Amino acid sequence: MNYPTIKKSEHKITPNLPDYEEAYSNFDWEEMKKEIHYFEDGTLNAAYNALDKHKGTETENKTALIFIDTNNKEQTFNYGDLIKQTNQFANTLKSLEIKKGDRVFMFLPRIPELYISFLGTLKLGAIAGNLFAAFGKEALEDRLKDSKAKVLITTSELLERVNEVKDQLPHLKKIIVTDAAGSTPFKGTGGSIEPLSYHNLMSKASEEFECAHLDEDSPSYMLYTSGTTGKPKGVIHAHGDIVQQHLTSKWILDIKPEDIYWCTADPGWVTGVVYGIIGPWSNGTTQIVHGGRFDPDTWYSIIEKHKVSIWYTAPTAIRMLMTKPEILEKYDMSSIRYMASVGEPLNPEAIVWGKKHLNLPIHDNYWQTETGSIVIANYPSMDIKPGSMGKPFPGIEAAIIDPKGIELEPEQEGDIALKSIWPSRMKMIWGNEEKFKSYFREAKGPQGIQHWYLTGDKGKKDTDGYFWFIGRDDDVIKTAGERVGPFEVESALVAHPAIAEAGVIGKPDEMRGAIIKAFIKLNPGFEGSDTLKEEIQQFTKKQLAGHAYPREIEFREKLPKTRSGKIMRRVLKQEELGEDVGDISTMEEY
Ligand code: WT7
Repeated sequence: MNYPTIKKSEHKITPNLPDYEEAYSNFDWEEMKKEIHYFEDGTLNAAYNALDKHKGTETENKTALIFIDTNNKEQTFNYGDLIKQTNQFANTLKSLEIKKGDRVFMFLPRIPELYISFLGTLKLGAIAGNLFAAFGKEALEDRLKDSKAKVLITTSELLERVNEVKDQLPHLKKIIVTDAAGSTPFKGTGGSIEPLSYHNLMSKASEEFECAHLDEDSPSYMLYTSGTTGKPKGVIHAHGDIVQQHLTSKWILDIKPEDIYWCTADPGWVTGVVYGIIGPWSNGTTQIVHGGRFDPDTWYSIIEKHKVSIWYTAPTAIRMLMTKPEILEKYDMSSIRYMASVGEPLNPEAIVWGKKHLNLPIHDNYWQTETGSIVIANYPSMDIKPGSMGKPFPGIEAAIIDPKGIELEPEQEGDIALKSIWPSRMKMIWGNEEKFKSYFREAKGPQGIQHWYLTGDKGKKDTDGYFWFIGRDDDVIKTAGERVGPFEVESALVAHPAIAEAGVIGKPDEMRGAIIKAFIKLNPGFEGSDTLKEEIQQFTKKQLAGHAYPREIEFREKLPKTRSGKIMRRVLKQEELGEDVGDISTMEEY
């Protein structure tokens, strides 16, 4: 089916970026830095830009955050409140002798303390790390151990999981608990770390703090993300990202101070950091944070009640909403003026649904944890071709290249690559220089030497310069927008006593894009059954995370392996898809 282009004249708004093509051809990052607050000595701080720069302006007394908890109770914070509380948090860290460059991790659900401790950490110049509250003990241990985190902020409920791993974490010095009453000791902690009360610490801390003056390259936050091999890697971002975080929020998400903006992503994910904390506040808007789970009625009622005007969400959520048209009918969605989506391919049907039921085009955009900001997007001032991710952001050069690094012609499929430098690009992979280098490809082309950053995705560009996503070039799985490395799942699986070997793939799924499927060889004496499948699923959830467990399990007598003993996921996937597996004569087993 051919989907007609959605003309830009149909947008209901006057966008912040009135002419994409014009901006693209006359763009200069240095010029754009004028939008950012630098201190007089030429340094900066991303948290200052998100909050403190609004001090003394009319924004100071405006609502920055409307927090809706799991019971739909609300709490609001204005910019002034957040400035003071992040100052208190920065002072708290200082009193605990935390210094610039130390890692401070948040293992928190979406509650105000997460947003406050994140930005307070940035103010001090320490490195903030966010962990999904859904993480199980192995996921938690891997990340805290690798980052050598010194401080962990968590809730009393999640503390139980922390307690299971904290003896493995020699670098962890302090645990701060957000919901502890007074100085009551915690049950079941033991060990040498006595958890501290967030509220006690905060009440003693001064509301005044001078943000650390930092270089553009000073690390600000880190997030673990999955690649093809090995355990998740710590991607390091820096304070200088702010220019791109600010500008993409303004030009792609079209955020204006008068908007009520809702990004549904969790800050355990880069979208929740860049477009759920820093970018929107840097643009002085009011943000909604919903602490509860996805639920169509709750989501629609939040939009209706708070008159949400910009909504940034993900394809899986949109597809789930599409299956329940009767729920949408009950609500008034007319406040939404702009809608965007990210994380996985947005199917054209979803765009057609948006046009029909919300009278809005949905703007797909593309980026990665490593790119630090959106790099390819649909802009309000540009026609939308349903199914396309759009065009590169001004200042970003994107191309489709071949394995030698030569740019391909329009319509040819190849690797999606970016010219290797832009402000929000990751600065390093924590403790893994080799991995960092593996993202780059140097190529001698007709125009001389080119340096490319490789996304790991396949795609094509059409004759109008629009980019189209084809798929991952590696084994990384995108399930409901979450990036999951098969190795991490496999190593969690083989920790189960019944499992000898495991191979994990992404199996295409209409709703979630892909689901995790595990092929398992059992140890002698174990019999495959539905009960065992269920037990394995629960086990993986506990080790890893709610979203990283195999929804499908298949027991096998043998798994396809190379002669060196590596399980061949490619073969498992091709068999699952009913494709020709090609020459498998080099395989040891099979
Ligand atoms: C991978 C990055 C996405 C925000 C940051 C989280 C896939 C992302 C799209 C899109 C098709 C997309 C790619 C990419 N992806 N956006 N609009 N269309 N695929 O990013 O968890 O680091 O994952 O998500 O495969 O490489 P992430």
